[in-house]
Amino acid sequence: MKTILTGDRPTGRLHLGHYIGSLQNRVKLQDEYETFILLADVQALTDNAHQPEILRDNIFQVALDYLSVGLDPDKCAFVIQSCIPEIAELTVLFMNLVTVAHVEKNPTVKSEIAQKGFGESLPLGFFCYPVSQAADITAFGAHLVPVGNDQAPMIELCRDIVERFNRLYGDTLVLPEAMYAQFGRLPGTDGSAKMSKSIGNTINLSDDEKTVSQKVMSMFTDPNRVTGKEPGNVENNPVFTYHDAFNPNRERVAQLKELYRKGGENEKGKPMLGDVTVKRELATALNEMLGPIRERRAQLEATPDFVWDVLRDGTSRGKKRAEDVMVRVRESMKIAYF
Ligand code: TRP
Repeated sequence: MKTILTGDRPTGRLHLGHYIGSLQNRVKLQDEYETFILLADVQALTDNAHQPEILRDNIFQVALDYLSVGLDPDKCAFVIQSCIPEIAELTVLFMNLVTVAHVEKNPTVKSEIAQKGFGESLPLGFFCYPVSQAADITAFGAHLVPVGNDQAPMIELCRDIVERFNRLYGDTLVLPEAMYAQFGRLPGTDGSAKMSKSIGNTINLSDDEKTVSQKVMSMFTDPNRVTGKEPGNVENNPVFTYHDAFNPNRERVAQLKELYRKGGENEKGKPMLGDVTVKRELATALNEMLGPIRERRAQLEATPDFVWDVLRDGTSRGKKRAEDVMVRVRESMKIAYF
């Protein structure tokens, strides 16, 4: 069986962007691959060193998210990154195989740095996290990395490092492939390019029905549609992007789009299709999808010991794998002494 490695930073609960960008893929792939899923708390520290206490609670919350979307702990090992010092060791060794210039060019890191407004106080650890992410992937011998397409530069860097390593020290490391979700990046509820906790434009998998409806009703739509009678723009309209992503009733979505594009008014002088209707139907579709996820979550919340057992067990499976890989790395590099 081939191996999957993927992960999330446990800085908050997971949202619809995670769901469409990678969780759904992981659930599908867990039967075909040995799967390791990293709760990347060390990576999360690269911009949260001043508040490490948020990670413990969020590791638990993210584990709940995993279990409630249907990741099966018998098939997937949930691995807490900080418990695997081999990753840190491999990161240090990889640092010598990457140029500063290469990391500087990474578009995802560049935009994150700009968005977080680090300026002169950019932590070196944050700047280097793509290198440690390459170590995450290779420490488990992963063949496949299912991620959102914003992670493409990380996988490319990882592949460069692995190729360089294997050329210098002999064929040792598995060259990983990325697997991107079919659906591109999910915009935030405010219409900005990405759903992100730090922007505050997310719909979380754990949001209750009322919260989901409220967030949907306040979503950004076509700003030029003032009365609802103007012909509306469906493209670049996050409400329709979400319909495309989450509403299983494709026929109705097509119909909504058509009416929205047309605009116009009915015999009572009201808009043919107001934004409110489009949003209400979206909220219903989302709540239907999230219903079973919420139910499972509520059951699991009542058994926290079970969740921590899942984490302990997954982490120990991950640790064994990373130890094996590191033995081979040290031997290839001729730094295995005793
Ligand atoms: N950087 C990823 C994100 O922000 C999380 C992550 C950490 C990851 N380590 C990984 C993803 C290894 C894939 C593989 O979503």
